[in-house]
Amino acid sequence: MAQQSGQQVKRVTTKTVMAMKKEGNKIACLTAYDYVTAKLLDQAGVEIVLVGDSLAMVFQGEETTLPVTLEDMLYHAKAVVRGVRRALVIVDMPFMTYQGNPEEGFRNAGRIMKETGAGGVKVEGGERVAEMIRMTAQAGIPVMGHLGLTPQSIHSFGGYQPRGATKEEARRIIAEARVLEEAGVFSIVLEKIPATLAAKVTQSVSIPTIGIGAGIHTDGQILVVSDMLGLYEDFHPRFVRRYANLAEEIRSSVGKYVSDIKSKKFPSKDESYTSLVSRK
Ligand code: KIV
Repeated sequence: MAQQSGQQVKRVTTKTVMAMKKEGNKIACLTAYDYVTAKLLDQAGVEIVLVGDSLAMVFQGEETTLPVTLEDMLYHAKAVVRGVRRALVIVDMPFMTYQGNPEEGFRNAGRIMKETGAGGVKVEGGERVAEMIRMTAQAGIPVMGHLGLTPQSIHSFGGYQPRGATKEEARRIIAEARVLEEAGVFSIVLEKIPATLAAKVTQSVSIPTIGIGAGIHTDGQILVVSDMLGLYEDFHPRFVRRYANLAEEIRSSVGKYVSDIKSKKFPSKDESYTSLVSRK
C-alpha cells in the first residue's frame, strides 16, 4: 500500500498485471522521464510507467536510443519513482549494460533496483539475453522482455521497418517469446510486428504481452508519452494516436507570454507585490 493525498492506494505489481491477462483486462502503459509527468500518468490510471531509453531521443534529442547511459537512466528513474504512488515503474536497461555478459547485466539491474526504488527492469532481445534474465529474475528482480523492433539493434536492422514479416522471422519471434517466458520475464513488449503475429505470441505465452505498433490483440498497449501527447514532432509513426497537441499548446502559450511582456501586460498589479503584508 502507498499513500496518495492521504488515501491508501493499492500498488500495481507484476502479479496484478499477470492476473489482468488471465481476467482479460487490458493493461495501459506509457513512458515517463520526469516527476511531473509520472505523477499525472499515475493519477490518470496507467498500470505501468516505463522509464524508456526512448528518453535518449525524445528528451535528450539523440538520433537513436544507443547513447543513453546507465547514470542517465538512474537519474530519470529516481524522478519518476518519486511521482508514482500506484503504477508499476519499470526501467529500461540501456544499450551495452547487459548484452556483454550475464553477470554484468545482473549487477546493473541490481543497481537500478537499489538506487531508484523501481519495480523492475526491461531488456531487449531473446535467446542472447536469456541467461542474464534467468539470473536477475531468480534474484527477485522482475524483468520485462522486448521483441520485434528492438531499437537498440537499429544498426543491424538497418532501419525502423516492421519486424516479423517473413515466416522465418515470425517463427523466431514466437520461439523467443517462449524462451523469455521460460527464463522468467513477467511480460513482453512486442514492437512493430504484424497484428496477426502479435496475436499468436499472445496466445503462446501465459505472461502478458504489451504492444506498440502490434495491433489490438496484445494484453496491453504502450506508447511513448511525448508522441501520444503531441510533444515530440520529429516523426509520427502510424501506430501513434495523438491524444493532444501539446507542442502547439506550448508554442501558442509561450507566444502569448512573450507578447504580454513586450506590451507590458505582464505582470499586472495583481501579480505584483504592493505591500509587505501580501507575500503569497
Ligand atoms: O524506450 C521505450 O520507450 C520503449 C517503449 C517504446 C516500449 O522501449
